[in-house]
Amino acid sequence: ETNEEGNATEEEATSEKLVIGFSQVGAESEWRTANTTSIQDAITDAGHELQFSDAQQKQENQISAIRSFISQEVDAIVFSPVVETGFETVLQEAKDADIPVFLADRAVDIEDDSLWVTFLGSDFIEEGRKAAEWLVDDMADHEGDINIVELQGTVGSAPAIDRKEGFEEILADHSQFVITQSQTGDFTRTDGKEVMESFLRSDGDNIDVLYAHNDDMAIGAIQAIEEYGLTPAEDIKIIGIDAVKGAFEAMAAGKMNVTVECNPLFGPQLVELIEAHMAGEELEKRIAVEEDMYTMDQAKELLDSREY
Ligand code: AHR
Repeated sequence: ETNEEGNATEEEATSEKLVIGFSQVGAESEWRTANTTSIQDAITDAGHELQFSDAQQKQENQISAIRSFISQEVDAIVFSPVVETGFETVLQEAKDADIPVFLADRAVDIEDDSLWVTFLGSDFIEEGRKAAEWLVDDMADHEGDINIVELQGTVGSAPAIDRKEGFEEILADHSQFVITQSQTGDFTRTDGKEVMESFLRSDGDNIDVLYAHNDDMAIGAIQAIEEYGLTPAEDIKIIGIDAVKGAFEAMAAGKMNVTVECNPLFGPQLVELIEAHMAGEELEKRIAVEEDMYTMDQAKELLDSREY
């Protein structure tokens, strides 16, 4: 659109229409679905064109999606890496093609930070710390050892690595807390349930706490605990991460004790960052999403107002 003098109108001059390629992790959890919608809507609502690719939790799918974005000569790539390592080559290819990459949600473990513009996502180590701090406080009066089973996220992913690290960092000063079993549930309900079943089979009467790296696995595990004949949140304390609606429903039903927030609704903020970069603004390398934590006694009151 132009004005009478043939110049671009103000609206066009400030926000150029971009083609944005978005390589998403998958559809493994409630959190992920909310995150996908938030980013997709923010891109299209801002008038940009979206090229979307779902990696189904497989690194090789992400590498080929990014290569295809490069060959389509998109203006920017949004990338939420399934795992932290192994993306150097493809990110170098994007850099060589002068296509800016924005890391969303998950980080990479790569030394050369010139391979991406900025990383917008949660502080997963802090989330792990918050989970452990809640537990230490909640069980302050407990005498004797406290046996914890841990459902880890996807092996090699930033949230699985960091949530474990933050949790263990706090518990290192409290030797009565012992992680007795720890295995991946790949961030899904189905695997969370299955792995919890195996934890219960091997040591069912000695589990005091479940620490799940996300709510979906916690919800799957709650089912396993009930089927085993124990009462979740009473016989076994349940800690999750994400603060999705499903966790609020479980807490409102008295089946889950606490969830640490991980906010997936950063699509609009991400698009602002892409536009700012395109307009020549210098961005911080790391931008964190702010978040809270919620306990069972707040669940009923907050359930209806939860957006994801
Ligand atoms: O990377 C964020 C994590 O990935 C969420 O906590 C989890 O639910 C998702 O699958």
